[in-house]
Amino acid sequence: MELNHPVLIPYVSILDPVLTKSLPPKVIASSGMDALAQAIDGYTVQWRNDFSNGLAIHSTRMIFEYLPRVYENPENSEAREKLHNAATLSGLAWSNSFLGITHSFGHAMGAVFKIPHGITVGIVLPYSIEYAMKTHSNLYGELARAVGAADSSDDDKTATIKLRDKVVKIMKEMEVPRSLKEYGISKEKFDKNFDDLVRLTSESAVNIFNCREPTTEDMKRFWHYMYEGKAIDF
Ligand SMILES: [Fe+2]
Repeated sequence: MELNHPVLIPYVSILDPVLTKSLPPKVIASSGMDALAQAIDGYTVQWRNDFSNGLAIHSTRMIFEYLPRVYENPENSEAREKLHNAATLSGLAWSNSFLGITHSFGHAMGAVFKIPHGITVGIVLPYSIEYAMKTHSNLYGELARAVGAADSSDDDKTATIKLRDKVVKIMKEMEVPRSLKEYGISKEKFDKNFDDLVRLTSESAVNIFNCREPTTEDMKRFWHYMYEGKAIDF
């Protein structure tokens, strides 16, 4: 399911916003959510460092500012250029640290239900933020304050909730579903594939890098909450 090899890493990236001019709104939403999930994962994983932090903060700030604008008006070439750059910064951020459970759950969801990658990690992102709140709201709070999603006077938990709310607001604006149920996956299909979802999630290489490493029991509960659209409270 997850492939990694040095030959998959590009030597050169061409950043030309003209090339993104004809992207349909659904692809803007999906790619934008992936860039956001990668920046937030990249900032909060255990291998975070000064270089990934700087890239992740600037990328998150730009995505919050420009993704809704590009979705609303793809003809806005300045916003498209900024978002294009932000998405690349997000890639540089996580490749200098790593990814977390937003991506382990997202990869499993995409493999089982054939949902585009950016939509899968978009669906997971609010839940992965909630899951980390119990132990690592300091990281998410710090990011929220740095990117202007929270006030400088907000404590870590308040700032983390504001970060999640900001993510959810953008998702709603772009009509990205908040749960598997909302995506249209039937309960029967979910139950039938549940064991595979848990297995693929637990086999992912990125769980051990997440700030709060999930147990298999937590993964099972996480999937149920994410199916129903229920905020993580464990
Ligand atoms: Fe991704």
